[in-house]
Amino acid sequence: MSVKKILCVVGTRPEAIKMAPVILALKKERWVDVRVVATAQHRHLLDQILVYFGIEPDIDLDIMRPSQTLASLTAQLLLDLDAVLLTEQPDAVLVQGDTTSAMACALACFYRRVPVGHIEAGLRTWDTHHPFPEEANRVITGKLARWHFASTQSARQNLLREGVSSADIFVTGNTVIDALLATAAREIAPDPDRDPSKRLVLVTAHRREHFGEPFRNICLALRTLAENNPEVQFLYPVHPNPNIKDVAQACLAGLSNFTLCAPLDYAAFIAAMNVAYFILTDSGGIQEEAPALGKPVLVMRDETERPEAVEQGSVKLVGVEAESIVKEAQRLLDDEPAYRLMARGVSPYGDGQAAGRIVTVLREHFS
Ligand code: UD1
Ligand code: UDP
Repeated sequence: MSVKKILCVVGTRPEAIKMAPVILALKKERWVDVRVVATAQHRHLLDQILVYFGIEPDIDLDIMRPSQTLASLTAQLLLDLDAVLLTEQPDAVLVQGDTTSAMACALACFYRRVPVGHIEAGLRTWDTHHPFPEEANRVITGKLARWHFASTQSARQNLLREGVSSADIFVTGNTVIDALLATAAREIAPDPDRDPSKRLVLVTAHRREHFGEPFRNICLALRTLAENNPEVQFLYPVHPNPNIKDVAQACLAGLSNFTLCAPLDYAAFIAAMNVAYFILTDSGGIQEEAPALGKPVLVMRDETERPEAVEQGSVKLVGVEAESIVKEAQRLLDDEPAYRLMARGVSPYGDGQAAGRIVTVLREHFS
């Protein structure tokens, strides 16, 4: 079998976490010349993850600008990725998820007629505006992909409903579980600043459609919870987006039991999830990781493209109204049986073998 060149393109923190197991698995294959392209739609958040997994990009487009707009980001990505495709002449390109990097890369590949593998294919809310712009990004990416690597059967069903041929869909599990299990197996020193006698609530929030009033509501709810529960510790590693960071600082700084900190590196974040009582988040990836660790998740959104853990009972949607966030979080703090029902360590998203399955599909295709 002749050597094939495969480009793995990553732009943001979650793409790097979920692409890392695939890159590391491809690097073991003798038939692949694997090249890592960092668009660097995120800079610091991306570098933190690549360093953790020991992955050095072969090409770095260094795209990120402060408060970048979606149009400027997309335009720059298209131009720069097109130049990469022209120089590299890959046999296939892999993208992950629903970011603007993934979508623009799929489009650039389409224009150059390079086949694309979409990892974490088929997530849908069926509402183009929620989440924004991710639902449109993944629909466009899915429309252009040659291989659809779906995490679950329900993602596969979504793709079939859109007319994707069943022969092009591969249910692999989500590579986030591969990364999680590899990381959770490592020894991580406990955080010296944490009082282990106190329960910890871990918080993250960053979504673009929450900028403005919804995010202020989220902060108000967090403040109320911290004030009403002085015996509980809150930890919020804050996303560097100024629309998030500045509002979080203004609303939440100065509370004695509420720690705002810089984004944690991946291993430290997994360790924090492991010791957390429960997690309040609007993140996609955390909805997949936390159930595997047996941690309840309250999702501060009105909808989710990840229904499996909601159906299983470990994830609950609590919206973005302060009142409902406070009520549901307080219930988990006060009602032990309700808490126990949500704290189950089963993951509907994978068994840690997803990357191997993706590599097998590609190997069989090219042989
Ligand atoms: C992006 C993705 C979103 C994903 C999220 C994961 C898009 C449109 N959005 O959202 O789907 O869930 O990443 O975190 O693809 N910034 C820094 N340093 C960094 C990263 C970001 O300063 O390392 C700041 C910059 O000012 C940047 C801004 O955050 O302009 C926004 O970054 P961007 O990637 O456009 O959007 P996110 O909200 O991070
Ligand atoms: N994460 C991290 N450090 C943090 C917060 C999150 O490493 O301080 C990881 C987390 O474990 C998950 C991923 O980042 O794998 C989620 O990224 P994010 O919430 O930014 O994006 P989303 O999943 O919503 O697209």
